[in-house]
Amino acid sequence: MGFDVQAVRKQFPALTEGAAHFDGPGGTQVPQCVADAVATALTSAVSNRGRSTMSERRADDMVHAGRAAMADLLGADPRGIVFGRSMTQLTYDFSRALAKTWQAGDEVVVSRLDHDADIRPWIQAAAARGVTVRWAEFDRRTGELNGADVAAVVSQRTRLVAVTAASNLIGTRPPVREIADIAHAVSALLYVDGVH
Ligand SMILES: Cc1ncc(COP(=O)(O)O)c(C=O)c1O
Repeated sequence: MGFDVQAVRKQFPALTEGAAHFDGPGGTQVPQCVADAVATALTSAVSNRGRSTMSERRADDMVHAGRAAMADLLGADPRGIVFGRSMTQLTYDFSRALAKTWQAGDEVVVSRLDHDADIRPWIQAAAARGVTVRWAEFDRRTGELNGADVAAVVSQRTRLVAVTAASNLIGTRPPVREIADIAHAVSALLYVDGVH
């Protein structure tokens, strides 16, 4: 089955200007159905989430429907889906929460291939807890970050590895499964930036 590029492009009103956008930060250039769903949510009678009043139920149902749709897309459990203002804000939230479990002498791993949104929150959380930051270097000739590049800076003290699933700058895609295995082998968590 062919990929109908024109049909897909037509779903994105922002593309009618004719420009090619090589970056789509902060949920820009969304398809019409997303814009419609947001407009419906903003113009519906909603209140705090709950099950007592109509407006509470509507708000609650919207949140659950959004989580279920994202879980369907990702093949995940809806109870593990969280929406936030942005990837940067969510990463700050995660880093602050996880840092409470870190101790001085622990280590976190970030990569030079990553967007700053998946680096700065971890550096700041590490500094607040006396935790060492280790940098995984990518191959400057190929732009690839390989499992071995990450393994070189992972140790028994590693608590978390933060890595992008794709570089927003050059499009290379690290082997996330392999990096997950490297992190999990030392009981570290893996945090993946899926923006791109
Ligand atoms: C790879 C990557 N990660 C994270 C971000 C930050 O995303 P947000 O704007 O949702 O904070 C961007 C934004 O361009 C990005 O390109």
